Amino acid sequence: MKLTRIGAGLAAAIIGLAGMASAEEPEIKKLVIDGVEMTVAAPAPPYLENLDMIYSGWLFRSPETQALELDDFDNPGMVFVEQAQDMFSTPEGTAGKACADCHQLEDFKGLRTVLPRVEDDGKLWTMEDYINKCRTDRMGAKAWKYGGTELTSMVALIGLQSRGMPVNVKIDGPAKPYWEKGKEIFYTRVGQLDMACANCHEDNYGKMIRADRLSQGQINGFPTYRLKNGKLNSVHARFKGCMKNIRAQPYNVGGDEFKALELYIASRGNGLSVETPSVRN
Ligand code: HEC
Ligand code: HEC
Repeated sequence: MKLTRIGAGLAAAIIGLAGMASAEEPEIKKLVIDGVEMTVAAPAPPYLENLDMIYSGWLFRSPETQALELDDFDNPGMVFVEQAQDMFSTPEGTAGKACADCHQLEDFKGLRTVLPRVEDDGKLWTMEDYINKCRTDRMGAKAWKYGGTELTSMVALIGLQSRGMPVNVKIDGPAKPYWEKGKEIFYTRVGQLDMACANCHEDNYGKMIRADRLSQGQINGFPTYRLKNGKLNSVHARFKGCMKNIRAQPYNVGGDEFKALELYIASRGNGLSVETPSVRN
């Protein structure tokens, strides 16, 4: 049987979103990690017509889940970061090189805040793209699977070097068409439930959906350790999960649509701190 699209009211009923569309502001708490205070709430950038404030997803979690991010010893995502640290100094591929032969981790400070960005070739590059290019072109090693644990752990290790710094992706110049494309995806209703990202993460953040509290769908904390699946989750894996939940055919992990969406959503968090690796349920 082929299901057709259904009305927004019925969709809301199916997924258990109660009442009329209206966002609820979260309680603002302090998030201090390793002595550094994170910016978890900030005025919305001017290009976000429908938001006054932007909030880290951390603010929407339960106190128990929030607590796991306060200390790196309690943060289950750090196990993956440590594994990435080992990989960073292990030679691989035909060139017999390790990342550490050419890079020092400290040199990546600030990189997370500006990605994805458009490179000289006119393409939009994610952190994953940079890492895999080094593997294939500079190490003679196989590209890691996009969204897989190795690549996502390395993305977390490099992202951690920017923790506490404000997200600051470019949206103008050559980035503009990618940003526009991402924005269009964010606001386009899809799937059998006929919903857009914005219906949940802009119109209804702060509200309960089944047993979960909706956030603004920010990505400043990615990769994120999820208690639900016990591993680090990439940005694209999360997008895919949300699309499946509204019974839409997800775009490809590592594909152009998700890269454009990643840029757009990153820009919705311009001003929030990089919190990598965050902890969510
Ligand atoms: C043979 C040397 C070499 C190896 C090995 C190597 N890289 Fe690179 N990498 C480079 C060069 C050269 C660049 C481009 C110039 C630059 O930005 O440093 C680069 C760029 C990058 C960038 C983008 C940096 C930026 O600021 O734009 C990242 C991220 C990166 N490499 C990660 C890695 C990781 C992770 C590994 C191991 C899996 C690795 N690289 C292995 C040489 C290397
Ligand atoms: C039916 C409602 C719904 C829709 C539509 C939806 N999501 Fe979500 N999303 C959720 C729920 C529930 C969660 C888990 C709680 C939270 O963090 O909001 C979530 C989490 C997220 C997160 C993780 C936030 C964090 O802080 O870790 C991101 C990113 C995200 N969604 C992006 C998207 C994108 C992109 C789309 C559109 C393709 C989308 N979502 C569509 C319900 C939705």
